[in-house]
Amino acid sequence: MEQRRASGAVVVLRLMGRECFLINSAEAAHQVLVAQQDRFDKGGPFMEAARQLVGNGVITCGAQDHQVQRPVMKPAFHRGRVAGYAEVMSGCVQEATASWEPGHVLDVGAEMYRMAALVVARTLVSAPAGRLAAEVMADALPELLRGLLRRMLIPASWVHRVPTPGNRRFAEDRARLDAAVGEVIAQYRRQQEDRQDLLSQIMAGDRDSGRRPGDAEVRDQVMSVLAAGVETSASLLTWTFQLLARHPGIQHRLWEEVDGVLGQRPASFADLPELPFTRRLLTEVLRLYPPTWLLSRIAVEDAEVCGHLLPQGADVLVSPYALQRDPEVFPDPGRLDPDRWLPERLTPAQRQSFLAFGAGRRRCMGEFYGMTETTLAVATITRTWHLRSTNPEPLRPVPRFLLVPSDQPLTLHRRLPPGEDR
Ligand code: HEM
Repeated sequence: MEQRRASGAVVVLRLMGRECFLINSAEAAHQVLVAQQDRFDKGGPFMEAARQLVGNGVITCGAQDHQVQRPVMKPAFHRGRVAGYAEVMSGCVQEATASWEPGHVLDVGAEMYRMAALVVARTLVSAPAGRLAAEVMADALPELLRGLLRRMLIPASWVHRVPTPGNRRFAEDRARLDAAVGEVIAQYRRQQEDRQDLLSQIMAGDRDSGRRPGDAEVRDQVMSVLAAGVETSASLLTWTFQLLARHPGIQHRLWEEVDGVLGQRPASFADLPELPFTRRLLTEVLRLYPPTWLLSRIAVEDAEVCGHLLPQGADVLVSPYALQRDPEVFPDPGRLDPDRWLPERLTPAQRQSFLAFGAGRRRCMGEFYGMTETTLAVATITRTWHLRSTNPEPLRPVPRFLLVPSDQPLTLHRRLPPGEDR
């Protein structure tokens, strides 16, 4: 996709047997995602695969349903609400790292996944009786996302009905997750109290219209939050620690900031404004390796974009990965340089080309949530641990459902003596 960037603002590609229009310039992406967004709806192979798990939830639904669903979901991600989740997030980071020992070789991808799944599960369902369901959600998710990827790459549905071990695991995990989510929804319906978690907020519905979602819609929204909120944050954290292990200068700057602000305590919501370098680092990692490396849409009517006709029914793909590596906008694009995001260096072109959280009406709802969670995690972990690379091989991005780094273990070294990190 990076190579195609030179071929013009819009090019035609054949992908998985389908003809697709690849959007290659920030202006063309702005036309599709923002200026002419009424002409482009969610669709294409990614969305079709995702609908098998999350149904018609807020990430996958069409524009008409989205108009009704977004007001139900939006308040759950409001800043004030996220401030309330921050304590849970911080607790999850400490719990997930409690078993780390100096000298251990860490499968950093798996660890970050476990942590991100715990965070979403606990902020989604805070009731103690929902704890078990939350753990089931966290546990079943990896296999389900692997299954989704298989379904996306091989669209023939009969292939996924053959009782292979992979298909059986997918069906079992889906049934387990469905049962757990159903049970929690029933419990919340019985008790009807606001537990200040995501699920209470989703079930409370749209305060303006008074509309409350039914069980099937709540289920689809829970699945959507799980699918949208776990791998994205896990991928961002994994890339961040892998890159830090290979950039000692940046690692030192991070230590300087984190040690100065936190001393020996874990990070809290109140520390966030004092951690600007940590935030710039995360933004720069998202630029280089956006977890959502491809956004897909379908043209619902003929549209003209930068002089090209995109006919009704066309699959349209926007690649944040390629656009965020355009050397005209981001000089020396392969270099990890958090200072590109200093307010005095930030350009309007950079802003327009940065699509890691999407753009327009379908822009990520969890941006503030995700940035809060990952800033707390990076600061809290960095204060205690140094994750060192023993393998000097370059990192390779692996495009799965999201973009993840090739597996490379990191070794744990303690920065704070035991007992001083509480
Ligand atoms: C931190 C890393 C994250 C990244 C890079 C990211 C990226 C994105 C992107 C690119 C989209 C738009 C997709 C499209 O236009 O087709 C999106 C949508 C969405 N994201 Fe995120 N996301 C992140 C974290 C989260 C978290 C933690 C949550 C929830 C806990 C979340 C919830 C959502 C939801 C609900 C939508 C659908 C918005 C809508 O269609 O109205 N995201 N995300």
